[in-house]
Amino acid sequence: MPIFIPILGFLFVFCFFSALLKWNQVRYRRKGLPQGTMGWPVFGETTEFLKQGPNFMKNQRSRYGNIFKSHILGCPTIVSMDPELNRYILMNEAKGFVPGYPQSMLDILGKCNIAAVHGSTHKYMRGTLLSIISPTLIRNQLLPKIDQFMRTHLSHWENKVINIQDKTKQMAFLSSLKQIAGMETSSISQPFMTEFFKLVLGTLSLPLNLPGTNYRNGLQARKSIISILSKLLKERRESKEKYEDMLSCLMRGNNDNRCKLNDEELIDLIITIMYSGYETISTTSMMAVKYLHDHPKVLEEMRKEHFAIRERKKPEDPIDCNDLKSMRFTRAVIFETSRLATIVNGVLRKTTHDMELNGYLVPKGWRIYVYTREINYDPFLYHDPLTFNPWRWLGNSLESQSHFLIFGGGTRQCPGKELGIAEISTFLHYFVTRYRWKEVGGDKLMKFPRVVAPNGLHIRVSSY
Ligand code: HEM
Repeated sequence: MPIFIPILGFLFVFCFFSALLKWNQVRYRRKGLPQGTMGWPVFGETTEFLKQGPNFMKNQRSRYGNIFKSHILGCPTIVSMDPELNRYILMNEAKGFVPGYPQSMLDILGKCNIAAVHGSTHKYMRGTLLSIISPTLIRNQLLPKIDQFMRTHLSHWENKVINIQDKTKQMAFLSSLKQIAGMETSSISQPFMTEFFKLVLGTLSLPLNLPGTNYRNGLQARKSIISILSKLLKERRESKEKYEDMLSCLMRGNNDNRCKLNDEELIDLIITIMYSGYETISTTSMMAVKYLHDHPKVLEEMRKEHFAIRERKKPEDPIDCNDLKSMRFTRAVIFETSRLATIVNGVLRKTTHDMELNGYLVPKGWRIYVYTREINYDPFLYHDPLTFNPWRWLGNSLESQSHFLIFGGGTRQCPGKELGIAEISTFLHYFVTRYRWKEVGGDKLMKFPRVVAPNGLHIRVSSY
């Protein structure tokens, strides 16, 4: 008799969990929705999604097709791996596809951050942002600052083992602080950086406002950053000095007074600029270093390009826009790095009303995961897609093709694309012309859901 008790217990637990799964499936069974599984109540299929990564997506696609339903990251979600539909969604925000980023991100980046605003507010915030990173300002103000920063940041790395992941993270943060407020080594930059790193962690957490959680720390970091930036605004208003940086442009507004932001909008825009460029630039730079290390022929070609630039200049001459234009191979290395490492897996949208998509009915408030990762490995678009081959980007127009979604597409396409490329190119310029490096080895790299080296990526550096 006692032997039946554990068996009965097991059967009970099995039936209970099967019923729970079934109930969650039935709860979301509505006429017209695409096929798919919804996983557990509340958690959905988040664990499988994070654990199996791209394989989860591929498995679901092989069972249900390019468009399927799931429940991930706290929301019922339609995943679209259909290139045509993805383009349609990105191009048609006005038809009811607003950004659908997680609650933690919206809470921590602020209600005026660009992903939280739509329609005319989005238009004027984006317009303001574009006006402070225009090609003219990149040429006259931002590139000189980036060059100055990189020269110093990349000094004295020789004969050391460094964690290139940490270095590129600091580089992305401090370089953007220099462009925004003209400072990278002031007394506020270190405390600002510490708070900023907490803010970033908080945006990718469960929105549980409990002591010790990344979410609570992120909210507190937001408060500290607001206080740092408010103090800076006050000092600027009281000062007679003339500044030339993003902050001064934003405070002046452009000639059209309607586009002058209030302090809350201005602070959220500054946080947006720092946040949007931070992980994309640092991770792409780190992965470029990794791929260049693993592909000596590519590194040789890069060095040729960069030493040719140095030969035209005196040692103290900064990189200018003409030099940037001549870095064709470097641009190709950056695109190939973003493609092969898939720095951005896709973008998130949310429906503002019930709608029909490709014959399916999608309810209001559902999230749509515009999953673009697989395009990067499509053998019809990229011959031998798993090979790191920057040459594929030269001499043809891959960059202008409709499937090129590394920087997003439509009304939300990355406004910082050229600025980001300028930063990574200048970083690589000083890195490959000053140093040789070898990986220490043994460091793990995770590719999903974010590209990250959990224990750092250590390299031994010597002068070139
Ligand atoms: C390699 C570097 C970069 C990559 C791969 C990248 C990628 C992207 C992608 C895929 C989007 C689309 C997001 C969406 O549709 O929801 C985006 C949007 C955005 N990016 Fe970038 N980005 C990079 C650098 C930068 C930099 C340096 C800035 C700083 C100015 C920036 C600012 C933004 C902003 C503000 C948006 C939102 C635009 C809007 O909603 O209208 N990005 N980026």
